[in-house]
Amino acid sequence: MRRPLLAGNWKMYKTAAETAAFFEKFRPLVERSDHCDIVICPPFPNLAAAVEAARGSRIEIGGQDLFWEREGAYTGEVSGPMLAAIGCRWVIIGHSERRQYFGETDGTVLKKTIAALEAGLNPIVCVGERLEEREAGQTEEVLRAQYRDGLSGLSAEQLRRVTIAYEPVWAIGTGRTATPEVAAEAHRFLREQVAAQHGREAAASLRILYGGSVKPDNIRGLMAQPEIDGALVGGASLDPVSFAAIVNF
Ligand code: PGA
Repeated sequence: MRRPLLAGNWKMYKTAAETAAFFEKFRPLVERSDHCDIVICPPFPNLAAAVEAARGSRIEIGGQDLFWEREGAYTGEVSGPMLAAIGCRWVIIGHSERRQYFGETDGTVLKKTIAALEAGLNPIVCVGERLEEREAGQTEEVLRAQYRDGLSGLSAEQLRRVTIAYEPVWAIGTGRTATPEVAAEAHRFLREQVAAQHGREAAASLRILYGGSVKPDNIRGLMAQPEIDGALVGGASLDPVSFAAIVNF
């Protein structure tokens, strides 16, 4: 049985003070939510505030990105060991906004995923097709290539610590969620890729999250699909009451 994981991706929102205020409201609302893992990924400058505010709770903190080198002359970048040292347990990799605006590719996703694992972090690796790709009937082709070039370079041992987030780009921030059936179909397809490479057992234990306009009113339907192991939530994770409602689906 795969344990649900509900992760919030705050993107470029909130200051350190707003982070502390969020946790003050959010913590009591999820105090007894031991049916799932809870992760929040704030912007880099607020990681310390988030780790501090989550201390003593079951909420874990993650980064939204990392660079694959441990240290060096890479202005503006942050490494896996730095995230781990500040208290992060998780990191999002290859989010579609990183791919779209910052030139990330399946190749950089693989390098970053390996770097995250080496730093002891649990990577949440994002994949998903764009609208024109879905409309052209290329969804499976896109997911197959993203798995092949971004994830199949990992050993079974490495993949065991990875969570995949299926995030159809057309559903992110648009209010247009994939139906639970459409999402589950993509999850099944991704799981088949893992099964073909590493066998049924590895595929059965891999967590695959859905992401894209997840809200308190659609989380139940999504989680009712056995293929959907949780959610990566953007907009609705910024408000403590709405993210708690999602966690407590
Ligand atoms: P959204 O973002 O929930 O605001 O659509 C999801 C994501 O980008 O991870």
